[in-house]
Amino acid sequence: MYVNQNIKPITTRTNSKGNLEISNCDLVDLANKYKTPLYVIDRVTLEQMALDYKQAFSKYEKANILFASKALMTGAIAQIFNRLGFGFDVVSMGEIYTLLNANIKLNKSSFNGNNKSADEIEFAIDNGIDHFSVDNFCELKLLNEIAKSKNKIQKIHLRITPGIECHTHEYIQTGQIDSKFGFDLSKIDKAVELILNEYKNLKLTGLHAHIGSQIFETQVYYDEAGVVLELVKKIKDKFNIELSEINLGGGLGITYTKEDNPPSVYEIADTIISSIEFHCRKFNLEKPVLYIEPGRSLVCSAGVSLYTIGSSKEIEGIRKYIAIDGGMADNPRPSMYQAKYYAEIANKKEENKPEKVTVAGKFCESGDILISDIELNSPSSGDILCVYDTGAYCYSMSSNYNRILKPAMVLINQGKSDIIIKRQTLNQLVENDVLLEE
Ligand code: LLP
Repeated sequence: MYVNQNIKPITTRTNSKGNLEISNCDLVDLANKYKTPLYVIDRVTLEQMALDYKQAFSKYEKANILFASKALMTGAIAQIFNRLGFGFDVVSMGEIYTLLNANIKLNKSSFNGNNKSADEIEFAIDNGIDHFSVDNFCELKLLNEIAKSKNKIQKIHLRITPGIECHTHEYIQTGQIDSKFGFDLSKIDKAVELILNEYKNLKLTGLHAHIGSQIFETQVYYDEAGVVLELVKKIKDKFNIELSEINLGGGLGITYTKEDNPPSVYEIADTIISSIEFHCRKFNLEKPVLYIEPGRSLVCSAGVSLYTIGSSKEIEGIRKYIAIDGGMADNPRPSMYQAKYYAEIANKKEENKPEKVTVAGKFCESGDILISDIELNSPSSGDILCVYDTGAYCYSMSSNYNRILKPAMVLINQGKSDIIIKRQTLNQLVENDVLLEE
């Protein structure tokens, strides 16, 4: 089984004390040392997935892998991907700034997003972003004006809506026709015409599509590559230019619970590569440079969240709630997408007295339920709960709801642990408050 097909980090085991351990770090010791709630990222699992991506796509001679920063952006995580040779898919000035702050150049990165501001565009150009994935006509015009004012010819891709529906939660589908992202296929001619005839400071080198997230099917990737290459062929026939780059986005799913059954990255890579080979032959095209931009599948399985169990409430004949010291502000996914998670008690593994409970967060909303109806090993106050697969879209979507402090994050690696995000402080929480004078 490959990393994204495992619920747990690949280094997880029970140690001689009966505690859960990841990458030779006892989770109870981590909770004591750094306090809870705590995000924990296993470097071994993360790097294994990154290497699998590289290996899987090495069969295609011209592949560039970008990490979709939105899944988990911190300076240290960015440094790891940068050292492994990855570029970045960024969507805001903040993500760009985080890279620059970690001394990472933007020369392999792509700027995505459906409403980039003039300030963001300028910032990205000034800092040498490789290319923009332009989403709409308004951006084309603005980007051309800004590039012109700087005397620069800016490389771009056009983001298209490929009209492919995949079976994932509707909030994280993006490739279907009714989407806020990208140019409809029927508008592409107009966009290319404008770039070639009017927007002289833009250089169009490729097309970009992204069909959704947490995808379990391979066929949709085959179809997506086909749609994109057919468009390359149409543009070639009509405008006599052959675009040399395609970006097929991210989206590979991971195993949150045993009901999930995602393909491996090797299956996805083989599907994409065979579709490119087939369609390039069919349309008589040169094989393009391929970009992909996975987020979740690169980091999710490497991450767990540790919480301390506090109060509990039993409703006779209905259910028992156990409450943890975090919840919807450090992991909004269950309340936003009905996302399901698997968890275990990190201490006293050997007791084995399963009890069905519902794990509630501490935030002031009835919907703040992290996991409904899960069997845990005699959960009681003071126990440490380990929730798996929180590496992606948890820290990056966290908030200060109820003015609760954001947790710290530690990177663990074969017995070593290092803080990579400090726990927020009360002072930081109020530092932007401006008090009235009277
Ligand atoms: N490229 C583009 C253009 C995207 O919009 C996304 C994700 C990705 C790549 C990376 O997709 P991934 O490999 O991570 O599936 N917050 C949601 C997921 C939103 C995904 C948004 N775009 C969640 O927690 O499930």
